[in-house]
Amino acid sequence: MNDTAAFDVQDGFVSIPGGTFAMGSPESENWRGEDETVHEATISDFFMAPYETTQSDYERLMGSNPSAFVGSNLPVENVTWHDAVSYCNALSEEANLSPAYVIDGASVTWDLSADGYRLPTEAEWEYACRAGTATPFNTQTSISADSEANYYGTYPYGIEENYFSQGNLDTHPGVYRQTPIEPGSFAPNAWGLYDMHGNVAEWVWDRYGSYDAEPQIDPTGAPSGALRVNRGGGWNDFAKSLRSAYRAALPADGASPSVGFRVARSARARAGAIGSAETTAQTFGGEALVVFFSWGGNTRGIAQEIVRQTGFDAVELECEHPYSSDYNTVLEEAQRDQNSQARPALASRIDDMGRYSAVLLGYPNWWASIPMPIASFLESYDFSGKAIVPFCSHGGGRFGQSVSAISKLAQRASLGEGLSVHYSGGSSLASDVSAWLERNGLA
Ligand SMILES: Cc1cc2nc3c(=O)[nH]c(=O)nc-3n(C[C@H](O)[C@H](O)[C@H](O)COP(=O)(O)O)c2cc1C
Repeated sequence: MNDTAAFDVQDGFVSIPGGTFAMGSPESENWRGEDETVHEATISDFFMAPYETTQSDYERLMGSNPSAFVGSNLPVENVTWHDAVSYCNALSEEANLSPAYVIDGASVTWDLSADGYRLPTEAEWEYACRAGTATPFNTQTSISADSEANYYGTYPYGIEENYFSQGNLDTHPGVYRQTPIEPGSFAPNAWGLYDMHGNVAEWVWDRYGSYDAEPQIDPTGAPSGALRVNRGGGWNDFAKSLRSAYRAALPADGASPSVGFRVARSARARAGAIGSAETTAQTFGGEALVVFFSWGGNTRGIAQEIVRQTGFDAVELECEHPYSSDYNTVLEEAQRDQNSQARPALASRIDDMGRYSAVLLGYPNWWASIPMPIASFLESYDFSGKAIVPFCSHGGGRFGQSVSAISKLAQRASLGEGLSVHYSGGSSLASDVSAWLERNGLA
């Protein structure tokens, strides 16, 4: 096969003509992240599945179904990035195509000359999602939970402003289904792709890293690192995390009930291969420390239960300038801090962090992510070689984007399986905590 041979497979995938687009988000975009630096990306022709991979697709080839919300026509979720690339290879083998990935334990190399199925790159994904648009969503400046995408519809784009200033009264809450739904339930984007926003977020090939501001041709992500990107947001995300430019990242061996994937394929062979050894997961030796922030006491209660069961040391994070004790005021303060990515100064210091090999990190879900004091904490210490095991108290939004936020802020840490607790956790708290400690090897 030479470098320009065109692949021809009749598989119902959408043919995406190559082109150049502005990847990332402009400074003016509400709720943009610092990691969305706008830059020019040129994409070669490729093919993309119109739908997210379903559980029946997955189970047929892989013989198992890891999904939390079981239903054969629902998207597969709770899959790791490694599961997703293995599925792509199995699909190639079934179709007699050459597998795109050479998988050797945790190390995965992408053979660019292969005609087989693969994950889209992050740039291909955004290009395809946008389908020519430059707005926050491919549905322009807002996205309807009732008729355009499956997400945490109580929080459409811009609704946050109404809590404090009534500055955006055209925006109204929509339905929150609290579950993934059948792919293809809403109209596709202009290029015929369904559910690029919402339902399940989608693993892409790339390792997470900062963008280069220079123009890129067929970029394939950061050369090293343990995190892989997922895009588009899921059934459990606020609209701000469904934006075309929004980047979520999780360890390659992490999984979430709101993350699945869709499959792509190259249109032509290219030369070369991409990949290097994964950073392997750490095992916990040494001591563990419980670190938590709590506004109303629920997270503190979970931390106390962990200490009761384990005897681990614990530190409560306090801010030099505490948040207001008034609920409506803290809502506004927390949102202001999140939108400006503030790093509130901490009054608590941990002098002997070097002693600990694992940090059990607790916090309330605030505006679908971490409270900013958690970001201050993560940036104050070196987590190389340490494990972070998150626990989160929430009012219905589970982890929101908090695990992605922690992953991005502590890229040298390995991440344990998180525990999300509804408010105080009620009567099952003790057993939920002990099962979670057990699963993380911390009991
Ligand atoms: C500023 C603020 C923002 C919140 N945002 C969310 C949210 O986005 N999703 C959610 O499920 N709960 C949200 N909650 C509810 C808290 O996560 C929940 O009440 C939690 O139990 C509080 O833990 P704490 O008592 O340790 O502070 C929010 C609460 C506050 C004060």
